[in-house]
Amino acid sequence: MKYIYRQTLFKILAKLPINLGDFFYHSLQKAIGSLDLNKFVERQQKDLEKVTKVAEKLNISFENSTVVEIGSGWAPVTPYIFIHFLKALRVLTYDINEHYSQNRIKELNNIFINKFPKEFKNINGLPDSIRYFPNTDIIKNPPKSGSVDFVYSRNVLEHISPNNLFSIHKIAIDFLKPNGKLIHLVSPSDHRAYSDKTLSLWDFLQYGQGQWDRIQTRFDYHNRLRLPQYIDIFEKTGYKVIYKFHDNPSEIPKNFPKKIDDEFESFSIEELTAGSLIFILEKN
Ligand SMILES: C[S@@+](CC[C@H](N)C(=O)[O-])C[C@H]1O[C@@H](n2cnc3c(N)ncnc32)[C@H](O)[C@@H]1O
Repeated sequence: MKYIYRQTLFKILAKLPINLGDFFYHSLQKAIGSLDLNKFVERQQKDLEKVTKVAEKLNISFENSTVVEIGSGWAPVTPYIFIHFLKALRVLTYDINEHYSQNRIKELNNIFINKFPKEFKNINGLPDSIRYFPNTDIIKNPPKSGSVDFVYSRNVLEHISPNNLFSIHKIAIDFLKPNGKLIHLVSPSDHRAYSDKTLSLWDFLQYGQGQWDRIQTRFDYHNRLRLPQYIDIFEKTGYKVIYKFHDNPSEIPKNFPKKIDDEFESFSIEELTAGSLIFILEKN
């Protein structure tokens, strides 16, 4: 779908009262098929496989751990994987919106029962080991001091403002155990390019902040931070990066912006185009 149609719809929805806007946004996502739970499970499983491979190398085990997920999304796929395959004790999953529904959990349970009949025999509703905190800002309602082993986020940090990223990481210093770790998977690319192939994954770098703020809405907020800026936030809030990964395109595509905004001029092309970021952090 050309981003301009999608954008116009988002602009209209953003003008509605929050509940109404959210209702139509959910309906729209359903209608355009972005809520295919089978695909969610496949993608999240793949990403967690990458993470577990690295974790093994770093001697990190999730067994009996308490995991906080930031950005629950549409269904508890990540919590199921942490509990049932990585043997975590509990997952507390936070989202500033409310996307889970009884029906979607039922649908997800059926997918897991069919895919993994051994591990998912008696699953009914959301298991007690998973606590969902919808409409909850972790900055204002953090977990108890020193109670958390891991923080996990996937495709969420890019949707959080730099100020809030600072606050979340400062607060996590308190609720993480001394040995606790944060694992972030970040997609820093222009998400409009996923559905509009005329745009490159870096299209939004041409805009100044004011222009970009006129294009984006609360439904598709993207902070456009580049790789070094994430590292800067982590280091300034008291962490060291013990693992990092990123990929880069094999060649710069023809539709890469002819001119990027001054805000991004100081970055190298590798830093500008770094994608599929993975970070593992621990306290300094
Ligand atoms: C693109 S979805 C990713 C969901 C899921 N992690 C996944 O990988 O499919 C981003 C999610 O982060 C949530 N989110 C955005 N800002 C947040 C914040 N400050 N705290 C918690 N959740 C947030 C959104 O409501 C949305 O559910």
